[in-house]
Amino acid sequence: MTAAREPIGVIGTGYVGLVTAVGFAELGSEVYCVDIDHAKIELLSRGEVPIYEPGLAELIARNGERLHFSTSLDEAVAGARLLFVSVGTPPTYAGDADLSAVLAVVEAMPASAEHALVMKSTVPCGTGRSIVRMLVEAGKGDLAYVSCPEFLKEGSALADFTHPDRVVVGDDGDGWAADAVSELYAPLGAPLVRTDVASAEMIKLASNAFLATKISFINEIANVCEETGANVLEVARGVGLDQRIGPKFLSAGIGYGGSCFSKDVSALKLLAANSGYHFQLLSAVTEVNELQKRRVLSKLTKRFDALAGRRIGLLGLAFKPNTDDMRGASSLVLAARLSAEGAQVRAFDPIATDEARKIMPELDCADSVEGAIAGADAIVLVTEWPQFLALDWAAVAVAMSGNVVIDGRNALDGRAVAAAGLDYEGIGIG
Ligand code: UDX
Repeated sequence: MTAAREPIGVIGTGYVGLVTAVGFAELGSEVYCVDIDHAKIELLSRGEVPIYEPGLAELIARNGERLHFSTSLDEAVAGARLLFVSVGTPPTYAGDADLSAVLAVVEAMPASAEHALVMKSTVPCGTGRSIVRMLVEAGKGDLAYVSCPEFLKEGSALADFTHPDRVVVGDDGDGWAADAVSELYAPLGAPLVRTDVASAEMIKLASNAFLATKISFINEIANVCEETGANVLEVARGVGLDQRIGPKFLSAGIGYGGSCFSKDVSALKLLAANSGYHFQLLSAVTEVNELQKRRVLSKLTKRFDALAGRRIGLLGLAFKPNTDDMRGASSLVLAARLSAEGAQVRAFDPIATDEARKIMPELDCADSVEGAIAGADAIVLVTEWPQFLALDWAAVAVAMSGNVVIDGRNALDGRAVAAAGLDYEGIGIG
């Protein structure tokens, strides 16, 4: 067996688990996927994919022979020594990470000196150390433990797997498992950060918290730009050219969504609080983001005396393009607030409508973008799907009742929108 073809187990077949499984299968590993959700495993065994992620279905089909799906851990334990854990760690009511799914895996693992748990799930710093303690107490202390956090982005997850900025591998043991995990990633040629478990855990939380901070920062700059007549697009361009800052994650808009940023910011803040430290900056990052999600409301109320009875078309529902994920989506806050003000909201998303209906069954969803635009007093770009950017604005102007276009992602060609006689406003564009 060559190191690059080491078989692996993947426990939990959500976004992270499936992408990890498919990525390693593509590199030549046999991959044993385990999930407690029978329906999901049945679907995957038939070659169907339960989530929308560009390229995933094709890669699952191409690697069908190397991918094995089961609801039992036994097959993975028999087939592989490295067991990647990629189960959910959603926030608890208290805001810190719910580790029950991770702990269930730890409990289910047999005692073995030949196996390792490789933690992909995002867990608070210190979790690895407690898991190792639990394993020792349960007489399973020979099981190795590695922290290998995942940095993939939804919508570009497969490309992120293949071209990671870095691979982080943390261990506090004798290193055999960390060596094997590092070998698995070696063909990708990414910088490798070999470190201890606690630091690996903290790298993940700190990375997401910093990215969220960058977004909230540029959103606050955008809000100040609106008061001072500056243009945040120009400001971000000028600021981002400073190599110490960099141009990425400086797009102002109506706030970040998704499952990771708010969860990890909150988990890091509470982790700090639980150890007696008040992480002030992160409170502001979260608050700025929540207010930013409501920013469109004030833009609309400036134009209409009252929102009651006004028809508002929402273009996009997903938290970002190329995903059907609605977790933390700004559209949810916006739709709820607009409805509370008495507006008639009609939304369209090319992919996420079904997911959105699960969360907001009362949301009026159109079957086409034209359906969301027709008769609208105002339309709001919520998710920058490419098809919205290519709209024929003259036709949009004819189809709408009113003329207000709010660009919540600064993604439209404002001049083209205005040239069609529409009243265009972005975020922070002065
Ligand atoms: C994020 C991290 O990027 C990834 O490394 C981690 O593994 C999981 O969390 P993801 O949630 O998939 O990934 O999406 P990402 O592309 O990072 O965008 C998150 C949100 O931030 C989106 O709502 C996006 O619209 C918003 N965003 C992003 C901005 O508002 N401005 C920006 O400049 C960048």
